[in-house]
Amino acid sequence: MEVVASKTRKGKLLPTNGVFSSPVFLALSLQLLAFIFSYLLYAADRWQFGGVLSPYVLLAIHASVAASLSFLLGMSWWWWLIQFAFPFALVVSLVFQLHPGFSLFVFLLLVLLFWSTYRTQVPYFPSKSSLLPCILEQLPARSDLRFIDIGSGFGGVSISLAKMRPEQSFFGVEVAPIPWLVSWFRAAMLGKKLRFYLLDYQELDFADFDVVFAYLSPVAMPALWEKIRSEMKPDAIFMSYEFKVPGVEADLIIKSNPNDPDLYVWRI
Ligand SMILES: C[S@@+](CC[C@H](N)C(=O)[O-])C[C@H]1O[C@@H](n2cnc3c(N)ncnc32)[C@H](O)[C@@H]1O
Repeated sequence: MEVVASKTRKGKLLPTNGVFSSPVFLALSLQLLAFIFSYLLYAADRWQFGGVLSPYVLLAIHASVAASLSFLLGMSWWWWLIQFAFPFALVVSLVFQLHPGFSLFVFLLLVLLFWSTYRTQVPYFPSKSSLLPCILEQLPARSDLRFIDIGSGFGGVSISLAKMRPEQSFFGVEVAPIPWLVSWFRAAMLGKKLRFYLLDYQELDFADFDVVFAYLSPVAMPALWEKIRSEMKPDAIFMSYEFKVPGVEADLIIKSNPNDPDLYVWRI
């Protein structure tokens, strides 16, 4: 673990363009464009060559066009994969005549797992365990310390810290039902000073906490910083794993391993 930068001067938040459009609609539009393109190709092939292109080649072209457009329009890398896999998944479900209940089950599972990712643009993925010593080193030793992970997923960060600092209080809030339920259950089993709530962090008052930890996404950071600045108490600590606040220098930047993301730390 290494402190790679340390600054005491805090910057102001720079204005951002703030045009907020949901990627899910863009993704669907690009699938439609790819479908139109591959259909025109199919029609031209039939007209000119009597239909030499196999349906699987057309499917691969459709998938590649959708993924390439997503890449060219700057969508995140996981969208390229989703855009490529989506037409294949659709065809597989038609060819194998999967029961509609199966698709509904998979859909509901994904909804409960990812919930409002289409709105928050923050999917679930866990932070690395190498992060924990970096957080721990920054946590004041006071026994009345209150730490919260906003977007706590399956609860890993708060649970691990609660085991190491049993006298302090650890919380998590999560909007997606399945991860929250698992974290709630894990906390109930452990019986430490540990609580998880099914809640949007925007409904919290950050003044109730001494340390706020976030592992969200670049999209969430500007509005989150405004909330941090207006609500957190002086001397409280805000930490963000991997994602900077645009235009605001961190007081500390901590690197756990050369290939792992940085932990950004601000003292309010
Ligand atoms: C990248 S994961 C991080 C999980 C965990 N904090 C960790 O470090 O392993 C982000 C989580 O934030 C949740 N999330 C996104 N927006 C949220 C919001 N507004 N309120 C609460 N949770 C949110 C997502 O559902 C997702 O589980």
